[in-house]
Amino acid sequence: MDHFELTEDTPIEVAGGSPEGRRIAVWLAALIGNTVETTPAVREADEGSEGAVHLDIDPASTDLGAEAYEIDVSRSAVSVRAATATGLFYGVQTLRHLLPPSVEYTAAYPRPLRLPVGTIRDAPRFPWRGLMLDVSRHFLPVDDVKRFIDHLALYKMNRLHLHLSDDQGWRIEIPEWPNLTEHGGRTEVGGHPGGYYTTAEYAELVAYADSRFVTIVPEIDVPGHTNAALASYPELNCDGVAPDLFTGTAVGFSSLCTANELTYRFLDDVIRVISGLTSGPYFHVGGDEVETLSEAEYTAFVERVQDIVTRYGKRMVGWDEIATADLRSGSIVQLWRPLWPGPGAEVSEGRAAAAEVLREGLARALEAGAGVVLSPADRLYLDMKYDTATVLGLSWAGLVDVRTAYDWEVADVFGSIPESSIVGVEAPIWSETLGVLSDFEYMAFPRIAAVAELGWSAPERRSWGDFRSRLGAQADRWDVLGIRFRRSPGVPWSNGLHR
Ligand code: ACM
Repeated sequence: MDHFELTEDTPIEVAGGSPEGRRIAVWLAALIGNTVETTPAVREADEGSEGAVHLDIDPASTDLGAEAYEIDVSRSAVSVRAATATGLFYGVQTLRHLLPPSVEYTAAYPRPLRLPVGTIRDAPRFPWRGLMLDVSRHFLPVDDVKRFIDHLALYKMNRLHLHLSDDQGWRIEIPEWPNLTEHGGRTEVGGHPGGYYTTAEYAELVAYADSRFVTIVPEIDVPGHTNAALASYPELNCDGVAPDLFTGTAVGFSSLCTANELTYRFLDDVIRVISGLTSGPYFHVGGDEVETLSEAEYTAFVERVQDIVTRYGKRMVGWDEIATADLRSGSIVQLWRPLWPGPGAEVSEGRAAAAEVLREGLARALEAGAGVVLSPADRLYLDMKYDTATVLGLSWAGLVDVRTAYDWEVADVFGSIPESSIVGVEAPIWSETLGVLSDFEYMAFPRIAAVAELGWSAPERRSWGDFRSRLGAQADRWDVLGIRFRRSPGVPWSNGLHR
């Protein structure tokens, strides 16, 4: 086959003196440097040279959208062109996928770095392609979260939602409220020591994510899922009595005291501090599974919190229960309850009633200009077991094998929501049963690749039969990257001989 071969003598050129372009070029040079003796040189060049890889961010490329790129490989040169740094980064990630998995790790047996001759023009379907890590039920240290940011980048995913607080643990330092982390952050499910991110560590995560074109979406789950905060400050409780720390897995029992003005001063501090450290435009306020408030108390609370989030310059995101409140234009409803059966599925009466309330709220929210992120638990919750024999994970929303996550079309299931209101898709990983990084990775891989493609590729470009063979070929890369993944049945996993 015709190809271009990269060696240590292949310069990586960047056009236009763009610092972001240069950073991406350095990233690519380092990747190639894993395999060749000497890391290739990075240099400025407005036009591509023979024998070089040329990277060009050209805002005048109006033929390319904000995240799009074009790759052109001939036998004598390679060019990657985009209108934005994000698009260029994605183009470089595609070059990475075209190179052998050995490029990922210096100690892997080196293979020739050949790119097939051809042209690729590519752009995503949805702007929000996310993953959520529940670092509250079990805490993940900074380096583990960075590793997940790298996993997102490999598949051109661009939102990392961090579930930073829940009944079992408060995971981010708020200087004005030190007990949140000193007390509320010191345990997790099962009673093991938990942990938390200092403001400096959180800022470090935001910067790391920015460098991989991933936007962090911080979540402080209120008014329910707040036992860790309530245990840390008695005055946040309506009766002024702090409950014990909680290390179980029940839900629905806790709520902030919505009648107490102190609650809103507390939330003002929390939202201000975290918003100030967050480069992205979103702040997730949770809002799910509140069983101790009336509907009126709940919606009034959500609307007040939405005002605070807006005051600090962010767009409010919340789980789908928030749709019953008056939402602003730009707020985002994250659909999670499995209330949208696939075509032909049976629906129970209870589910139909809950779905009706949600549909009504959602219709009003969309009218007001809110958007929707799709995280249906029966397809995209990556903490659901793969099958009945899976040791980790839960199964309340069903079993979610990789085909269940991949093989459906958004418009078939969510056809009542206009596609223009669908911001994208996100796969949450809740951690009641996941203790350490490898547990999270085992639940994420291979399904993360299914979610990434669901968010990126147009429906007519997706089919299970084609995906499963491309998925199987990912196994060698995951092996080289040291990712412990599930070899789901029905996928022709590569055997490692081509590493
Ligand atoms: C949720 O799973 N409670 C959003």
